[in-house]
Amino acid sequence: MTHDRAALDALLTEKRRFAPPAEFAAAAVVSDPSVYERAEDFEAFWAGWAGELDWFEEWDTVLEWNPPHARWFDGGKLNVCHNCVDRHLDGPRRDRTALLWEGEPGDRRSFTYAELSREVGRFANVLRSLGVRKGDRVAIYLPMIPEAAFAMLACARIGAPHSVVFGGFSPDSLADRINDAEAGVLITADGGWRRGTTVPLKANADRAVARCPGIEHVLVVARGGLKDHPADMVDGRDHWYHELAAGVDDDCPAEVMDAEDILYILYTSGTTGKPKGVVHTTGGYLTQVHATTRTVFDLKDDDIYWCTADVGWVTGHSYVVYGPLAAGATVVMYEGAPDWPDRGRFWKICEDYGVTVFYTAPTAIRAFMQWGEEWVTRHDLTSLRLLGTVGEPINPEAWMWYHRVIGGERCPIVDTWWQTETGGIMITPLPGVTQTRPGSACRPFPGIEARLLNDAGEEVDAGYLAVTRPWPSMLRTIWGDDQRYRDTYWSRWDGVYFPGDGAKYDEDGYLWILGRVDDVLNVAGHRIGTMEVESALVEHAAVAEAAVVGKTHAVKGQAIAAFVTLMGGREGDEDLAAELKKHVAGAIGPIARPEAILFAADLPKTRSGKIMRRLLGDIAAGRALGDTTTLADPAVVQSLKERYEAKEG
Ligand code: PRX
Repeated sequence: MTHDRAALDALLTEKRRFAPPAEFAAAAVVSDPSVYERAEDFEAFWAGWAGELDWFEEWDTVLEWNPPHARWFDGGKLNVCHNCVDRHLDGPRRDRTALLWEGEPGDRRSFTYAELSREVGRFANVLRSLGVRKGDRVAIYLPMIPEAAFAMLACARIGAPHSVVFGGFSPDSLADRINDAEAGVLITADGGWRRGTTVPLKANADRAVARCPGIEHVLVVARGGLKDHPADMVDGRDHWYHELAAGVDDDCPAEVMDAEDILYILYTSGTTGKPKGVVHTTGGYLTQVHATTRTVFDLKDDDIYWCTADVGWVTGHSYVVYGPLAAGATVVMYEGAPDWPDRGRFWKICEDYGVTVFYTAPTAIRAFMQWGEEWVTRHDLTSLRLLGTVGEPINPEAWMWYHRVIGGERCPIVDTWWQTETGGIMITPLPGVTQTRPGSACRPFPGIEARLLNDAGEEVDAGYLAVTRPWPSMLRTIWGDDQRYRDTYWSRWDGVYFPGDGAKYDEDGYLWILGRVDDVLNVAGHRIGTMEVESALVEHAAVAEAAVVGKTHAVKGQAIAAFVTLMGGREGDEDLAAELKKHVAGAIGPIARPEAILFAADLPKTRSGKIMRRLLGDIAAGRALGDTTTLADPAVVQSLKERYEAKEG
């Protein structure tokens, strides 16, 4: 778990309370606490939200639940892109701004809903011209440029499930995801901007595609304004998007999709070396992201909404693209780093665009705290009226800083707990209803039922978080591996979903999420499986064995610590440690770069040969060692602890 004991004790004695400001509550989308009771008939509650969307044909049943498989709104027909775009074209939203985009160098583009409709139609026709048909998988590896949203919506329009891969992932990670999903088309760009330099996306894509026999076409968006133009085009395989776009119409009819047709696959880390392709479908997913966007972010037609997530993560899917566009909002999208050209960039964007609702990760808030208030206070943030956080537990100090410095003590904060697998927000305050507490995600969203259980399935005050009822945006399976879906999420208790997090109630029944209870780390809000990093390490010729654990990090929440034994009794040194860090970053992506590497003659193992990661975690966290009685050789761990402490101080 992310918190150590002292931090946990401090957390649970948190007594500060923040009621919704009266003015905020008076105008809120939801201000009546009876919404929770009304949602006890959860099928009726969700059907009410589904009814706000445009359906080509009404559903027959709200929910069919054959654990662990759910079908929501079965028999209903709709199209997600139609709901995010076309639906807004008949009224006053037609000429409202849908997208306000800013590139890292400062270039700007904006699109009304009418313009968005033409961009998406054209993109969809380009995909069609490449032979993409309903059901075909399309991989997307793009920077945060408007075309990322166009590409996703275009796929949704023609019924081709997309698999977006974060632009910071390595060629190997991209290739694994393309091959697993059996995608035939890859959409990428010549590059993108990050901290004043260009990221060579096309070159990375080329290295990936060399390992992907199924890829027939690579569609390349010209980002424009790059320092150099690093795209080598392969004849017959690679196409410039703007060249194909010039030859097609911007009118493309939306496919009629079944509510349970696949909208997208998104890969996320698990407890094995192989990422899982989380499958989301159409009707239930859109219903929940729409409902939560409207109520948790309190979105109204005049809001300027900015979620800082990259479209490579689920937050970018649900709360940059699908949720806010389904709500007809004005969405801000920014390409680059928060500290470029200076540490006030985010606040300059908030000021320039008049952002009213802002959603980011605790790790970013902790970085801003370290950088100092002066970067914030030189900008006018009075347009902000609501703040959100997601991705990891937020420590009360960071919450208070966010409240005071960014929110000017007037903006409610919604700490939203959810996962790639849940598709949409699950545990959260409602900003016009809930009295919040710094560090608590408060309570399940209306219609969601969560409990804390022990291994035996009994209710406890502190234990595993469990979701005890199906919800519309739940994952439907793991792509190509339904057994893994059953084993990972549904095998601990009967018909109950296991998210992999631990949590605790306070005396008033508020939920405090404590962090992962499995071998998954949360580094700067990104999920990384310890096994993935271990596999990358042992691929290096010098490495015999590796064990990876998390260590507490002031800004990232967790950082990666690796214990490594070398081949043939070789001695490790600083150069090799640096080489191994680089090797992991190259194999997975820079987000997986270990912070600390400790070379060891041996790793602590049980008599049956299993590495005791728990003890390594104790060492990395500077805690007293837990139970060592099952170790084959207790001296190994003691000497490792001494060496680690000598090295890390
Ligand atoms: O451990 C929880 C943590 O992030 C995990 C999900 O990661 P991912 O699938 O990458 O999705 C992140 C964005 C939705 C969870 O299992 N987590 C997410 N939100 C919170 C959180 N932990 C505490 N508080 C949160 N608000």
